[in-house]
Amino acid sequence: DWVMGDYIAEAVEKIRAQVGDEEVILGLSGGVDSSVAAALIHRAIGDQLTCVFVDHGLLRLNEGQMVMDMFARNLGVKVVHVDASEQFMGHLQGVTDPEAKRKIIGREFVEVFQAEAKKLTRAKWLAQGTIYPDVIESAGAKTGKATTIKSHHNVGGLPETLGLKLLEPLRELFKDEVRELGVALGLPHEMVYRHPFPGPGLGVRILGEVKREYADLLRRADAIFIEELRNTVDTASGKSWYDLTSQAFAVFLPVKSVGVMGDGRTYDYVVALRAVQTSDFMTADWAELPYGLLKRVSSRIINEVRGINRVTYDVSSKPPATIEWE
Ligand code: XMP
Repeated sequence: DWVMGDYIAEAVEKIRAQVGDEEVILGLSGGVDSSVAAALIHRAIGDQLTCVFVDHGLLRLNEGQMVMDMFARNLGVKVVHVDASEQFMGHLQGVTDPEAKRKIIGREFVEVFQAEAKKLTRAKWLAQGTIYPDVIESAGAKTGKATTIKSHHNVGGLPETLGLKLLEPLRELFKDEVRELGVALGLPHEMVYRHPFPGPGLGVRILGEVKREYADLLRRADAIFIEELRNTVDTASGKSWYDLTSQAFAVFLPVKSVGVMGDGRTYDYVVALRAVQTSDFMTADWAELPYGLLKRVSSRIINEVRGINRVTYDVSSKPPATIEWE
């Protein structure tokens, strides 16, 4: 619509005035905020923008490919794709404590990103997809108001170490405005209205030690769950169960249980499904998904993902449980 069109024109002018003919780097995560920031900045300055996409090996199924298709192929954005999964897996080996895992992933992320950023010697700006609620939240954290239950992984302090100026074109926008802007900039609706995904990715959805084998099994189970949520429409509201939930995902439990398949006995891993409804993610109710949907997801995961022979549904609300399992 024209209101958003005007907004884009204004934002584009502002970015051009700020940046001039200098170069900008942006860390693309695959999430909504960094994606919309990238699309907006690209609209404003084209090839003066280079995105760095760090793949830590803890992304969802085909996510790396999707990000590259969307930005590099469809929008013509310059994207450096860094496959750092070996490095991340290496550092996570033998680590089971949730906070320790988060810290390692956060630290490695910063390290890999910095190394790439330093190669882009002409860059003068670091762009970030900071939105208004982040600005408020970090103000709260600085005054000690926020209680840290889990250390959240984001890239604070980077511009200073890199000697770059900070470009934050979404700083004044709320999430729903960021989404509208994304759609107006031509990002796919499906991408812009995705559930949130934590920075440490599957690292906090594989309980205990992270292994590539576990991540591969979890990715496939999770993709089946999400596909069925998208394809199952609630007749009363006309909405898909994906849209009726705020966040949904599979969790890998590194315990084995006995099952039977054909005339053989199996001894394989367990997956838990988690789906919640919430308005602010501070409290959340587990979603009352239809039994038929749970049944399809369970039988598909067990039949299609060899290595998983049991599926459970998490019926814990927040508080006292958190949304993620770690
Ligand atoms: P919890 O598990 O604390 O999660 O109930 C609340 C919301 O925050 C997300 N989350 C994270 N996001 N880095 C992030 O960027 C993190 O380390 C992190 N931990 C939790 C979680 O997915 C949920 O939306």
